[in-house]
Amino acid sequence: MRKPLIVGNWKMNNTLQESLSLIEGLISNRLSVDRDFVVCPPYTVLSLAGKLLKETKIQLGAQNMHFEEKGAYTGEVSALMLKELDVSYVIIGHSERRKFFGETDLQISKKIFTALNNELLPIMCVGESLAQREGDYHHRIIKKQLVEGLKLVDSSRASDVTVAYEPVWAIGTGKTATSEQANDMLGFIRTILINLYGESMAENIRILYGGSVNSSNVDELMIQPEIDGVLVGGASLKSDEFLKIMTYSDRG
Ligand code: PGA
Repeated sequence: MRKPLIVGNWKMNNTLQESLSLIEGLISNRLSVDRDFVVCPPYTVLSLAGKLLKETKIQLGAQNMHFEEKGAYTGEVSALMLKELDVSYVIIGHSERRKFFGETDLQISKKIFTALNNELLPIMCVGESLAQREGDYHHRIIKKQLVEGLKLVDSSRASDVTVAYEPVWAIGTGKTATSEQANDMLGFIRTILINLYGESMAENIRILYGGSVNSSNVDELMIQPEIDGVLVGGASLKSDEFLKIMTYSDRG
């Protein structure tokens, strides 16, 4: 059985102090042992966040990393540097990285490879634009992103990857994919993973939905059979709201 995974992506938000208060707010609550929780603060917060999160139910994630192990890459951060700070997960190929920083499927495949080699768990993001969905070729786009992004991952490592389906038109727009749209696409992603890795291995890979998830729509999303968790941006920036998401369906 795949354990539900709730991930908060704080993007380029929050000062150090704001992030630490947010973490304090989250860890002061009792959290289900049957779910995994991850927060992905900015790099500048990782070191102290790692200390605060030690021995808690919440794991630490980074928002990006470089695909080389080390070298002359000014401004970049390596997998080993993240590992040193108790980072467990790393978001790879977020649509904002693809759009604003020109990240390609090839770079994403190398990042995933390097993350796994350094015992970091990659959360690989895929998603189509509005034009691609309206043009009805969103399945083709998602398949290409998956096949190319995962091309360096063999089946022995595949279950360490999490895939996050985040339609670009739903990110930060308040426009969520309907739970049926999300469920359908996640089912499609699962069939591609089965083709790549075989049924028993693909059944272990978690697939998340992301894009305007909040405390009002999370229950509806999480009851969908294909949805193993959510990747949350804006709504993860306030501890009350994010806690409601983390405790979906068992809020009394
Ligand atoms: P959002 O962002 O929840 O603010 O739409 C999700 C994401 O980009 O991961």
